Formats: sequence, structure tokens, C-alpha cells
Amino acid sequence: MKVPYIDLNRSHQELKSELLDAFSKTIDHGGYCLGPDVKAFEEGFASLSGFDRVVAVGSGTEALHLAGLALGIGPGDEVITPAFTFIASAWLAQYTGAKIVFSDVDSTTYTLDPNCIEKLITDKTKAIVVTHLYGQAADMDPIMDIAQKHDLKVVEDAAQAHLAQYKGRAVGTIGDAGIFSFYPTKNLGALGEGGCVVSKHAEVLDRVAVLRAHGSEVRYLNHHVGYNNRMEGLQAASLNVKLPALPEKTERRQAIAERYLARITNPAVILPQPVEWGKCVNHVFTVLHEKRDEFKDYLTSKGVGVDIVYPVPLHLQPCFAYLGYNEGDFPVSEKSAARCLSLPIFPELTDDEVDYVIECINNY
Ligand SMILES: Cc1ncc(COP(=O)(O)O)c(C=O)c1O
Repeated sequence: MKVPYIDLNRSHQELKSELLDAFSKTIDHGGYCLGPDVKAFEEGFASLSGFDRVVAVGSGTEALHLAGLALGIGPGDEVITPAFTFIASAWLAQYTGAKIVFSDVDSTTYTLDPNCIEKLITDKTKAIVVTHLYGQAADMDPIMDIAQKHDLKVVEDAAQAHLAQYKGRAVGTIGDAGIFSFYPTKNLGALGEGGCVVSKHAEVLDRVAVLRAHGSEVRYLNHHVGYNNRMEGLQAASLNVKLPALPEKTERRQAIAERYLARITNPAVILPQPVEWGKCVNHVFTVLHEKRDEFKDYLTSKGVGVDIVYPVPLHLQPCFAYLGYNEGDFPVSEKSAARCLSLPIFPELTDDEVDYVIECINNY
């Protein structure tokens, strides 16, 4: 048997005629950049997730950049950022001109470790970026307490965490701003790029809405230096087709994760641990193995698609060499990067495929 790591075609073929109908309507009304599809998506995603308002932009990366700018982060500021995450979490500080200050992560959730934050705070610290990695909410209460004590902004990178909750609250609006990505492989993915910003502060969203459209509030009059970060109508049209199934697809991801957790019995494979503050939405299912590369080669030889998410912690990325970090600075991030392996977990996987992955793992 061959089990792909991910296969978007399975859902897209099923939705093909609905998607084509939606695209046809976009062509009829002509709203290609923002427009009615984007407005409908902003309202639909807000309502499904429990947000008052959503501002759609061109990608999760653009959302991070604009959220940072809208919170007033800029040159001279320091932004605490997890060392183990997708690189875009660090682009917020980088693009706004602030200094990236990396922090280690927690060994259970791989999200920002609240115990590591306080010693990194200086009089220049302006914000903390928290990534809800793999779809698991980070432990927000202690992070918010630290932020409040030191008057810091908190940005939640929820690119991988659509519909995830922390103690019953939707991730994204616990901090000062949150972002989601609608990259095709995400739990809710467009047929191209997409992202959005959420916030409990209306003025932050007002600023993002202006910045995404060239900084212009009145046509051809620019009070602000802005960007072309509009969501495209065709991408919103695809998201509107897929949005209603998000809760059901999320439950399917969680059911696959539960199957892995219940049935993988190989003692050399360290499984993700559930936490008491909220169920993971399982964007990625990552296990640890001491001899990860051999384990990866074995699963690949058995036809099981796997990925390493992520092989290099951010403080050791060549592009951040200028920051002067060294190996050994963040042991949990480094150990995770060296041992992690992610298994197939997209909603259209069959139980037979999941059982085959489990069987291969248990036979190793
Ligand atoms: C944690 C995280 N942050 C940010 C992003 C950036 O999102 P996008 O690819 O939509 O720019 C991604 C996704 O790729 C991500 O996984």
C-alpha cells in the first residue's frame, strides 16, 4: 500500500463542480481583488470561529506583517519569537524592522514555553509571537500574565490552528492580534494563497484593512505607507466552498490522531501528549524518534509518506546567522528538530490507510 503524506486532489476532485460554479460567479460579478467573495468569506470565517470581525489578506505571512505594523511594532523594538516553528513566525519581527529574540519551546506541546520568556524581556521588548504549532493551542494564560505584567503585545500565529480553542476560547483573539493562513495544505486551504488577521481591538483591524490596500482610506489619497496585500476574489470563492465542511474535516483529523494515539504501541516512538487546556486540531501529527532519519527511511520504503516539520530550528537558520545564536542555545527546539517526524493526517485518509501506517510503525 502507498499512503501519501497529503493529497489535496482527493477533496478538490470531489468539490470540482462546486468550485467551478463559484469561480464562474466571480467572473460574472468581477470582484477579483477583495470584493463580494472576500466579504462573504470574512463574515463566514468570523461567524464559524466565533470572532466579531476578520480582515482577509493575501497570505498568513502578509497577515503577520500587517498585524505587527498595526500593533506599532518597528525598529528599536524586540519581539520574542519561538525558535521551533515555521519561519514565517519570525518574519513579523524581521519585516517590521524589529529585532528577533528567540525563545525555547515546551517539550510537550512544542509551543512557546512560558518559563523561558521572562528572562528574555528587556526595556526594548515590545511583543511576543506565540505559534499554536501543529494545531495545538499554546498555554496562553501564563503568557498573557507575563505580557500584562510587562506591558507587551501578544500576536497569536494560528496559521495551523483553525477552530482550535484554549480553555473554551477561540485562539486568535486571546492576545492582541491573531493570524490564520489559508495556504492550500492548511486545515482550511484556498486554491492558492490566503490569510487573515483577527483581533479583539477594532482599531487594529481598521489599520490592517487600510494597510492591505496601499494605505489608502480615500481612493488615490494615501495617508499611510501601505501594501498590496488584498485577498483575491477567486481564492475567497474557493474558501467559501470549503468553509462549511471545516468542523467536520477537523473532527476527522482528530479521529485519525486518536487512532494513532491509541494504536501506535512501538515504545521507541514518542507520541504527542494531549493537554488539559484544549484539543489539538491536528494540522500536523508529529512523533519523535531517537534515530529519526532511519525511521523515516524505513517508513518511506514501506510507501508511507512522511515529512520533517521542521528540520532546522529558526535560531540556526542561515538567514538568521546575523543574530549570533549558536547550537545549544535552545535545547528543546534543537532536540525536536533532530527527532521529529510527521505522519499523514489529512481528513480524506481512509481508516485502512491509517491502520497501514500504524502497522508499519509497530512492526519497526
Ligand atoms: C506557523 C505558520 N506561520 C505562518 C505561516 C505563513 O502562512 P502563509 O504560507 O499563508 O504565508 C505558516 C504557513 O505556511 C505557518 O505554518
